[in-house]
Amino acid sequence: MRLVRVHLFLLYVAGAALLGHQCCEAKVMMEYIGATGQPVTFNPVPIEDNIDFHFILSFAIDADPSAKPQNGKSSPYWIETLTPESVAAIKKRHPNVKALASLSGWSLGDKVLGWYNPKNPKLWINNAFTSLKSLAKEYHLDGIDIDYENFPRNNASFAYCMGELITLLKNQSVISMATIAPFHTTVLPYIELFNKYGDVIDYVNHQFYTDKVRSPTGYLAAFQLRATQFDKDKLLPSYEVNGRGIQGDAFFDALNLLEANGFDVNGVMIFSADASSSNNYYYERKSQAFLTNSTRV
Ligand SMILES: *[C@@H]1O[C@H](CO)[C@@H](O)[C@H](O)[C@H]1NC(C)=O
Ligand SMILES: *[C@@H]1O[C@H](CO)[C@@H](O)[C@H](O)[C@H]1NC(C)=O
Ligand SMILES: *[C@@H]1O[C@H](CO)[C@@H](O)[C@H](O)[C@H]1NC(C)=O
Repeated sequence: MRLVRVHLFLLYVAGAALLGHQCCEAKVMMEYIGATGQPVTFNPVPIEDNIDFHFILSFAIDADPSAKPQNGKSSPYWIETLTPESVAAIKKRHPNVKALASLSGWSLGDKVLGWYNPKNPKLWINNAFTSLKSLAKEYHLDGIDIDYENFPRNNASFAYCMGELITLLKNQSVISMATIAPFHTTVLPYIELFNKYGDVIDYVNHQFYTDKVRSPTGYLAAFQLRATQFDKDKLLPSYEVNGRGIQGDAFFDALNLLEANGFDVNGVMIFSADASSSNNYYYERKSQAFLTNSTRV
């Protein structure tokens, strides 16, 4: 009897392994926070216990306050109400919370930011590593998100620099988690990054709201396309609060349509907590209810 049980258990473990690494993990919420200049805090954001909840601090930028690039050295530019102490406190209160720093974003003040090909990529990677390591320690970070949004014509070093940076940060146990945030017109350099370094990238926060689809069927078509460009199980549907793309409860119709078409909705990305404070976090609540409801194999 005991032997049979052991065998059944081994069979279960083998089966679970075969179903892929995400088979039995919790579903994820990705919540950008701190980019708009509003004095937001973590406290009012609803967090369900059985969801892996990721706050993505927006943004850590390789630039001085006048937006001049610093050869890889990142500084925090998210709103100062998101203090290191408040990150520690929300993680203590909710052990399922992780904190990530998103790299770059669209702009700093009125200056548009973009990838530039560093003269010495190894030095850039080293500077980025050192600055993010100290930022991770100070702010109790678990990971980074890559959100460069403008690229020069020749962007060859982007995939190399980002891929090696993530690999090094993970190898040195500075971070345990890395995500990328392509959008409609920036998908190419991200595909290159994902093709070469997909093993160290946990989720793809594709900005579906930039694909300009407003209906559930349009959303499904966009998801089907992005699923061929990235890994469908790492790809998360996303929603921009008071923003572009699909709006209102049609988003949840789209999630249901994804599942009806055989996709596992493994999580949801929302931009952003700053905007959601005006509607009592309606989309965060309903997304987590959806994720809790929809069963994972
Ligand atoms: C970036 O690199 C890719 C691959 O070499 C290229 O196809 C693309 O046009 C480049 N520029 C942008 C803005 O994506
Ligand atoms: C880090 O890289 C070294 C050298 O490639 C490797 O031996 C080691 O297992 C890696 N450690 C982690 C935690 O990935
Ligand atoms: C949860 O599942 C029930 C039963 O299938 C369904 O009626 C309800 O609308 C679902 N809730 C959400 C938020 O998806």
